[in-house]
Amino acid sequence: MLRDKARRIGLTVLLAMVAVTLCSCDTTKQWIRSGPAKTEMSRSAKPFGTTPDGQAVRLYTLRNTQGMTAEIMTYGAIVVSLTAPDKDGNFNDIVLGYDNLADYIKVSPYFGAIVGRYGNRIGKGKFTLDGTAYTLATNDGENHLHGGLKGFDKVVWDDAPVDRSDAVGVKLSYLSQDGEEGYPGNLRVSVTYLLTNRNELRIEYEATTDKATPVNVTHHGYFNLTGAQRNILDHELMLNADRFTPVDAGLIPTGELRPVEGTPMDFRKRTVIGARIDNDYEQLKFGGGYDHNWVLNQKGDGMTLAAEVYEPTTGRLMTVRTTEPGIQFYAGNFLDGTITGKDGVVYKHRYGFCLETQHYPDSPNKPDFPSTILRPGRVYKTTTTYAFSTR
Ligand code: BGC
Repeated sequence: MLRDKARRIGLTVLLAMVAVTLCSCDTTKQWIRSGPAKTEMSRSAKPFGTTPDGQAVRLYTLRNTQGMTAEIMTYGAIVVSLTAPDKDGNFNDIVLGYDNLADYIKVSPYFGAIVGRYGNRIGKGKFTLDGTAYTLATNDGENHLHGGLKGFDKVVWDDAPVDRSDAVGVKLSYLSQDGEEGYPGNLRVSVTYLLTNRNELRIEYEATTDKATPVNVTHHGYFNLTGAQRNILDHELMLNADRFTPVDAGLIPTGELRPVEGTPMDFRKRTVIGARIDNDYEQLKFGGGYDHNWVLNQKGDGMTLAAEVYEPTTGRLMTVRTTEPGIQFYAGNFLDGTITGKDGVVYKHRYGFCLETQHYPDSPNKPDFPSTILRPGRVYKTTTTYAFSTR
């Protein structure tokens, strides 16, 4: 009896010790994640050139207390650079782009930009809303892509500094006029970029309109967690999605929500991107690899874990959370070595990947998809975070 009691007390003490240890590990992890201040949180802005029609462009540099930096320009609301530490504490720029404005204007597959009014495709650039048929600019064969010929990625945004207790940021605003690229209504849109002291790039989107219009704004960053040392095929990806939206040969969703189970689209467990990308699954042929929208397993309408990407040689882990119901995973299939980016690096096939949080493509023509229609008196509000840590 006594021995039993002693054994029970021993076990309780042991369990308590384990609990305390786990607890303090967790605190340590927290401590490492938010960390003691290594640098001062700061923001600065400087001129970054002029557009051909004479508009001055500014470049903001945000720095958090952990030493991460983000450079954001007012042309296209583009993230020009984003540095993140590797497992040894070395910082590298982990997004693709150019060092100067002229190159962004000359040719850019939406490097680091905000795309809209409607991110991704609208079939044949047509939709009907409240009985009126609208025709949008077409810029991707017969389809409308990322807002048309002059989307949000090609305009100069107004800028204002933003300060939060744990973040430094910039708010970019733009008035997209009634009829622009064929869309109805004056749309006032803003995008707030925040660099938090928890090593997150947080993006808050807001919009209001004076006529009903589709809206689907997203960030088109091309990430390469090696710092563009090589292609992204060895990165490991997790997508929190049981289903995706299959497309036709023009990359327009068919309307089906198809289970990923048993297909190369299944990323529910972290999987190397290159493992199945050249599989002869028909959907992969259409996109020349992954270029699809996944239907996120959303919990309520708050922030949901959408994706994780791990790069084993640097130990960098990127975690994406969003209020949006979908995510476009694009594996840089159209990069082909014809673009030379920052520091003279040639962006070869699949040198960057995009994770664009969004509503599903072609929703204005798919009544069964979650609606993308914003009406006067309502506020469009979405948030996405890209968080960086190491393992
Ligand atoms: C699209 C791709 C497109 C790319 C633009 C992605 O969001 O899904 O099909 O080629 O953007 O470079």
